[in-house]
Amino acid sequence: NNAPTLVTNSDRERKTPEDLRSLKWFNDKLNPGMTALYIERYLNFGLTIEELQSGKPIIGIAQTGSDLSPCNRHHLELAKRVREGIRTAGGIALEFPCHPIQETGKRPTACLDRNLSYLSLVEVLYGYPLDGVVLLTGCDKTMPAMIMAAATVNIPAISLNVGPMLNGYWQEQLTGSGTIIWKSRERHAKGDIDYEQFMDIVGSSAPSTGHCNTMGTASTMNALAEALGMSLPNTASIPAPYRERGQAAYATGKRIVEMVWLDLKPSDILVREAFENAIVTNAAIGGSTNAPIHINAIAKHMGVALDNDDWMNIGFEIPLLLNVQPAGEFLCEDYHRAGGLPAIMAELLSAKKLHEDLITVNGRTIKENYENKFTWNKNVIRPYDQPLVDNAGFLNLKGSLFDSAIMKSCVISKEFRDRYLSHPDHPNVFEGKCVVFDGPEDYHNNIDNIDVIDEYTIMIMRGAGPIGYPGAAEVVNMQPPAKLLRKGVSSLPCIGDGRQSGTSGTPSILNATPESAIAGSGLSIVKSGDVIRIDLNKKTADILITKDEMESRHQSLRESGGPVYPDSQTPWQDIFRREVGGLAGGMVFDSAVKYQKVAQVSGVPRDNH
Ligand code: FES
Ligand code: MG
Repeated sequence: NNAPTLVTNSDRERKTPEDLRSLKWFNDKLNPGMTALYIERYLNFGLTIEELQSGKPIIGIAQTGSDLSPCNRHHLELAKRVREGIRTAGGIALEFPCHPIQETGKRPTACLDRNLSYLSLVEVLYGYPLDGVVLLTGCDKTMPAMIMAAATVNIPAISLNVGPMLNGYWQEQLTGSGTIIWKSRERHAKGDIDYEQFMDIVGSSAPSTGHCNTMGTASTMNALAEALGMSLPNTASIPAPYRERGQAAYATGKRIVEMVWLDLKPSDILVREAFENAIVTNAAIGGSTNAPIHINAIAKHMGVALDNDDWMNIGFEIPLLLNVQPAGEFLCEDYHRAGGLPAIMAELLSAKKLHEDLITVNGRTIKENYENKFTWNKNVIRPYDQPLVDNAGFLNLKGSLFDSAIMKSCVISKEFRDRYLSHPDHPNVFEGKCVVFDGPEDYHNNIDNIDVIDEYTIMIMRGAGPIGYPGAAEVVNMQPPAKLLRKGVSSLPCIGDGRQSGTSGTPSILNATPESAIAGSGLSIVKSGDVIRIDLNKKTADILITKDEMESRHQSLRESGGPVYPDSQTPWQDIFRREVGGLAGGMVFDSAVKYQKVAQVSGVPRDNH
């Protein structure tokens, strides 16, 4: 049985009520005047002085659900069960809203708001009377924003996913979030379906409350939260409407109270080896190309060194075990019913691919949590030695085009491999002339008017990085022009300094760092017509122009004032652009990374009056 487990870890020294952080607000014997001020307003909705001074841990519930965040909206309901769990275990719950980050609703991109939500949560966790926090995650950027903040402040924290939507069906065929949009757009462009059918099909992929039901970025990040040890075992994949989701919420609420008494903090869980486990797990589930960005960001805020070479060196050779779209066939409801993440972890454990002695939020180790789990459906979750694909991890390419860019090779189709990567004299090496697009508008306006694009063209999307866009948009996977689609060419090689949707099955080369908005970058001087060589054996991507030509292009770009990109439209865009680092480094603010384990280093903030 794969039910969530609750245990305590008897090895850890227990805290006493006198140790609680919230006491400095609500029962400071040295400063009773300030205690009166801190406690008074929390009485106005019915809490009592007795409760707030009873020595019970005060637990925050970081609410990310709202009408603006439909993926996480079910958390409004689940938070009630979290609250009951907290009460049952002897804590007091204080729920608060987080800045919404909704992947499909927020323009110009939800990724722009990840660091905003992170910064705001750091202030809340540090500046209010909280002893621990339940992080309600779901939609793509909510997991990283929440866990990055918990890492920075370093108070006991546990994450709870909202869960995926149920399977979608259209005319008895599975329709998966996002993936069905990319496929149907293509069918619509080819004239196979009309617009009404297109909308019908797309709507069918969202049959219930919950986040994307494919292995997109949301399912990925929440699987990795569990693999890292930050959420209770077997809670990542439970579909949002299932009863087990409410039960997991209750168990999570109970557990955080115990974590406060045990002082079990993110720094105890998020060690280097835990990140290595996340990399391995990501490959086995066919996880999103957004994962390296967000996991590298969490590692940075935790003070753990991690980069895209680690992703390739540790993850590349791990096989694909999970048969879920976009890399496979099924959806997340099937994944859960087949045993969920525990069945994957059990396979990885028996193949000796995981660090097994790492502690997780339930006080048990990875091995204790997962060693006897198994799958009920080997078509959905494969045994380690009978995978869907070998080498499911990412390649980290480098060269004169960029210092780092990720490629998810497990989604390379046979058509793509045959056309580009199967030359008998130089397998896995592809050379072609490129066409450069300056942002998605340039692509959409011109893709069907550029005569030179044929099946051997490499399409480059630039101006889509953290600074250029701003926020790094999911626009690198570009559909070939209609004339090629009609000829049966369903994908061209794409390279870009933006991201790609985790629900897309295109083998693009993305997250390229440095981005074209940075002076001196390869992407800032590449021109349509240049020949690009991609060598997957050497893991390189180069512009085949002379050193002199390259230098003279850099020189003239400098003289013309450097790379151009659209003006900021809001104050946050402006601040973000000034502070942000590249996608390879996690797109973090370096000025934020220097604040580590704030609750330990800085105690509590000074009084407010
Ligand atoms: Fe929110 Fe996919 S759009 S989870
Ligand atoms: Mg997306």
